[in-house]
Amino acid sequence: DATRGTNLSTVGEFIKENTNVAAQYLKDIPAGQVSHFDDIGLGEGKTIEVDSEKLAVYRDAQSQLHICSAVCTHMKCIVNWNNAEKTWDCPCHGSRFMIDGSVIEGPAILNLERKSIDPTTGHLLHTGGKTSGEREINNPIT
Ligand code: FES
Repeated sequence: DATRGTNLSTVGEFIKENTNVAAQYLKDIPAGQVSHFDDIGLGEGKTIEVDSEKLAVYRDAQSQLHICSAVCTHMKCIVNWNNAEKTWDCPCHGSRFMIDGSVIEGPAILNLERKSIDPTTGHLLHTGGKTSGEREINNPIT
């Protein structure tokens, strides 16, 4: 469908244009080979580095990418993907975050910072929006 096509080409551009993607698993993937991109499990949640920033990237069942900083807002450890719970979990002190970066469990009290990638350049977009430090402290989980 149209939505999926748009998102897939976004990912293709992201691979092709972004020379700063340092993760080893991206190195052997031909430009624009989105199926391979899927194969390596980005949809299962991966951390990658773009423009020297570590990102937590998840592609949902609708092919939508969710991109947050992978840096835990507690003491800056890098979060890991928890495939059983579909959460980003911090290995250092146990903070957990939803795929949109919202805090589920502390000790972190701030959400992971949300990020966007320019589909044509593959670089991070700095929108001038709120940073994690300016976000609401906690999203109610209902
Ligand atoms: Fe992540 Fe402490 S650094 S929970």
